[in-house]
Amino acid sequence: MSEKILVIGANGQIGTELVTALRNQYGAEQVIASDINNPAYAIRNSGPFEFANVLDKENLHHLFHKHQPTQVYLLAAILSATGEQKPKLAWDLNMNGLIHVLDLAVEFGTAKVFWPSSIAVFGPNSPKQNTPQYCIMDPNTVYGFSKLAGERWCEYYHAKHGLDVRSIRYPGIISWKAAPGGGTTDYAIHIFYEALKTGTYQSFLSANTMLPMMYMYDAIRATLSLMEAPAENISIRSSYNLAGMSFTPAQLAEQIKQQMPDFSISYADHDPRQAIADSWPQSIDDSQAKTDWNWQPEYDLKRLTEEMLKNLKNSLNL
Ligand code: SER
Repeated sequence: MSEKILVIGANGQIGTELVTALRNQYGAEQVIASDINNPAYAIRNSGPFEFANVLDKENLHHLFHKHQPTQVYLLAAILSATGEQKPKLAWDLNMNGLIHVLDLAVEFGTAKVFWPSSIAVFGPNSPKQNTPQYCIMDPNTVYGFSKLAGERWCEYYHAKHGLDVRSIRYPGIISWKAAPGGGTTDYAIHIFYEALKTGTYQSFLSANTMLPMMYMYDAIRATLSLMEAPAENISIRSSYNLAGMSFTPAQLAEQIKQQMPDFSISYADHDPRQAIADSWPQSIDDSQAKTDWNWQPEYDLKRLTEEMLKNLKNSLNL
């Protein structure tokens, strides 16, 4: 059977690159990109596009009815920093958007659903190092507890309705094609733009704030591997821990200096995102992803830094 894949939230940081990867793999016409906003050039010119608002169930129903997707990727979300500014909207969108899609997937017999969770599901009392799959989870951001509740809904729909829903707890994702959207880990992208444009960067996180991170190439690879794995291998129906690398702003700055010796970094005194970062893990135990679907990251900090500087330099015409 040929696949029909609906990607909701296709204009975002992950959506932009996931749509391209899926179109390469399954054929451009098989992958319907959708978003609440006008499509980015790369999306519009490479295959079908539909407007979608995850809070409008009728609109989503129409999309499911029209395209009868075999796979749905729901990426529309409000991230951690923006979520603290608009807590009720973040809860509404992250939660009801997911429930709408899960319901429609059951109604239309969608074979597989992907929904991203995050390291933000952990909180101040979760172990910070090598954070295990199962431990105390007391997230204190709206984004974090909407993701944790969402994981529970995913597992519930799998148990009650047999829905094949799969999920990853993404670490901070570093990429250069589309801008990041209001997260706590965004500093690790901004720093590359500022290094290239001005040679200096003020980090909103402090020098030694260690967080789990991943290059987009690995994040897309992980997502596709999870979605292609045989259903019987998927032992976790809430969301898989996933690790790439961990680093601090100071370590990232050091790595940039290897290639740009004049680069300098400074640190903001007070930023609300610091408290969010302090409540999150520093590194993640992803042994279950390794066991169940052979996960292995390819990028470390050195390779990530080289790729980011090289690609951004080209795309910014510097
Ligand atoms: N990168 C996201 C954020 O910072 C975490 O999922 O909000």
